[in-house]
Amino acid sequence: NDQTPVSAQEREEKLEGIGCKRKRVEDVRFTQGKGNYVDDVKLPGMLFGDFYRSPYAHARIKNINKDSALAVPGVVAVVTAEDLIPLNLHYMPTLAGDVQAVLAHEKVLFQNQEVAFIIAKDRYAAADGVEALEVEYEELEPLVDPFKSMEPDAPLLREDIKDKKEGAHGPRVHHNHIFTWTAGDKDATEDAFSKADVVVKEYLAHPRVHPCPLETCCSVANMDKITGQLTLWGTFQAPHVVRTVASLIANIPEHKIRVIAPDIGGGFGNKVGVYPGYVMSVVGTIVAGAPVKWVEDRIENLTTTAFARDYHITAELAATKDGKILGMRSHVLADHGAFDACADPTKFPAGLYHVCTGSYDIPSAFIQVDGVYTNKAPGGVAYRCSFRVTEAVYTIERIIDVLAQKLDMDPADIRKKNFVQPEQFPYTSATGWEYDSGDYPTAMAKAMDAVGYDQLRQEQAQKLADFKAGKSRQLMGIGISFFTEIVGAGPSKNCDILGIGMFDSCEIRVHPTGAAIARLGTKSQGQGHETTYAQILATETGIPSDMITIEEGDTDTAPYGLGTYGSRSTPVAGAACARAGRKIKQKAQLIASHLLEVHHDDLEWNVDGFQVKGNPEKRKSMKELAWAAYNNVPEGMEMGLEAVDYYDPPNFTYPYGAYFCVVDIDVDTGESKIRRFYALDDCGTRINPMIIEGQIHGGLTEAFAVAMGQLIHYDEYGNVQGGSLMDFFLPTAVETPHWETDYTEVPSPHHPIGAKGVGESPHVGGVPAFSNAVNDAFKKLGGVHTHMPHTSANIWAYAQSLGL
Ligand code: CDP
Repeated sequence: NDQTPVSAQEREEKLEGIGCKRKRVEDVRFTQGKGNYVDDVKLPGMLFGDFYRSPYAHARIKNINKDSALAVPGVVAVVTAEDLIPLNLHYMPTLAGDVQAVLAHEKVLFQNQEVAFIIAKDRYAAADGVEALEVEYEELEPLVDPFKSMEPDAPLLREDIKDKKEGAHGPRVHHNHIFTWTAGDKDATEDAFSKADVVVKEYLAHPRVHPCPLETCCSVANMDKITGQLTLWGTFQAPHVVRTVASLIANIPEHKIRVIAPDIGGGFGNKVGVYPGYVMSVVGTIVAGAPVKWVEDRIENLTTTAFARDYHITAELAATKDGKILGMRSHVLADHGAFDACADPTKFPAGLYHVCTGSYDIPSAFIQVDGVYTNKAPGGVAYRCSFRVTEAVYTIERIIDVLAQKLDMDPADIRKKNFVQPEQFPYTSATGWEYDSGDYPTAMAKAMDAVGYDQLRQEQAQKLADFKAGKSRQLMGIGISFFTEIVGAGPSKNCDILGIGMFDSCEIRVHPTGAAIARLGTKSQGQGHETTYAQILATETGIPSDMITIEEGDTDTAPYGLGTYGSRSTPVAGAACARAGRKIKQKAQLIASHLLEVHHDDLEWNVDGFQVKGNPEKRKSMKELAWAAYNNVPEGMEMGLEAVDYYDPPNFTYPYGAYFCVVDIDVDTGESKIRRFYALDDCGTRINPMIIEGQIHGGLTEAFAVAMGQLIHYDEYGNVQGGSLMDFFLPTAVETPHWETDYTEVPSPHHPIGAKGVGESPHVGGVPAFSNAVNDAFKKLGGVHTHMPHTSANIWAYAQSLGL
């Protein structure tokens, strides 16, 4: 065929493989409004469910009168905990080893808790039913402050487990205690602190925020009573895990459950857990005999499904007087709300917080995390991060600045002095993590050069002098964050969820004409998997990306996988993809040896086919080999060209980056302006540089939101504030700063294509960069640390407190 490109370079370009800025194939439907989301699922006879929610944070339910709700035209059923008890469905297990009320039984434990589920013929009737329902309460004393949770006379919240002395992670010492968890070597760390010239200690609150995806959580359940088949569409970041949990909770055999996660409008951790709404849509379809849809509104999303952070961190560093860090200590009081519904690997109730020694060679560390109950919504999810790594990076990147300030050292110099050096990789941290690869000094040098660090410091000094001289009311801050992420959960030796190892999977079928379909156990929520997995396969198999369909999210067709969160898709499923592609290639090589009548060792791979060594004219393309796989295979070989790979990674991957933020602050109004933000990322081999840039823009925007404005606050009665977008800061293009991106590329030594995850790096690294910049502006004026969110009001109040 004359049209067929011939040169290796042309064939390479046609593949659009690893390294290509391939345009996102999914955007064709997204930009034309043709995405298929859960709310687009419309089934004949479908009913709608809506929750009646508690107005109180802590109250006893004295009576529920269903009649007034049932009298509303269109209302079909009203379900309460009493109805769920015979089915043993009034509580469900959480991923963290606790149980959570599906509908409140006897007591409500947080404002907006689910009390009754109203099923109606349309959404409006369901909402009217919610309005009409009559519930009588007796108010109880609310517990809002986590620091008061374990006081001897603190109110008892969880009556259902009041006699439980042993939790999922060890003994419970108080009725509001969930767990105490430690990592590192306490004695060695104490020894380091006793010998240090300098010790710093700071309280660093990481307030409660919410992932706030554009699409809220929702589900549609349909039980076919004839076949006994339950189909559940939902906003699931981990559809297979949902199927297994649904089977265990509802006692329906797993093969009779089909979970489908269609297009998802952002997850950021919010769509990992199992929520009462999902369970109630299933209960609803069984009770009502018709499909039932449940769709959260924005207030429900912000106030009930999976908050993030709420870590009350105390951090300490011990160092020599010339700035060499000797030890680190951190204590965290973790406010988990009314139920421990964190989504972490089973063995790590505090997620991966103990990676908090960061990018530095710190010889000793000791970490303790205490989890407690309060009258707040449950959750504790990883908001665009790998299981509490944002909290970990915030801790080290803030406290190292505090140490630099105490020693009167430059924040860049103290980082450089303590970096893990390139020759130390693989490097084992004091809390036991093995960092796979990196070259921190090179990344730091490139970043400092790019931003013109020395000039920035000179400019800052001049501004400060003007301020002190009364010539100006403007301050300038320079924030540095040199973060190391830990992504790709994970090695099954460390990580499981409900006992299932955290592998991931890819299954490929190559069709006779050389086109292919690949299915994976992960689930994109906007990250562009349909584009990038095809690129990996194109490079591995020689099949052009646009000839490969990528499918995720349907448990009836996709191989079992643990889903997408914690930037694990590339490190785990991406690796499965590469390995499945290699299996295809191996078989194709045997077919090529048969067709070309040479020994397979005499063949070599060239872009998209095998050629005879020393005689490149004699070759068979993958397209030809695919055809032969269905009609002319070596004797004894099965026909077809398929492969499956389940990949259990040997280690996490450790992407890193150097971020610099420059902020200008008006001391009289507290207004801040991010003048410049430079982000250098190293995620190993880059599959699609354009998608990486998009991920970094998005992650930085969310980091900006968290650091500068987001907060889910509770008043003293447990009333949730910040529960709508009138109050909760969601930056638009108007507020969002301009982002400069850059990179270095040090591959992961254990990943088949050397790639590390990247989706969450900008969030994890971004938050401390903003906070350090704000704090840096005040550090020569008596300030040490001011808490996030750095709103104008908070910055103004801080300036006032410093007498400025
Ligand atoms: O698990 P999740 O998809 O959220 O995160 P990820 O594995 O970091 O991938 C996010 C997006 O960036 C995907 O489309 C990846 O294929 C892409 N990526 C890339 O092009 N190169 C990398 N080294 C890492 C991710």
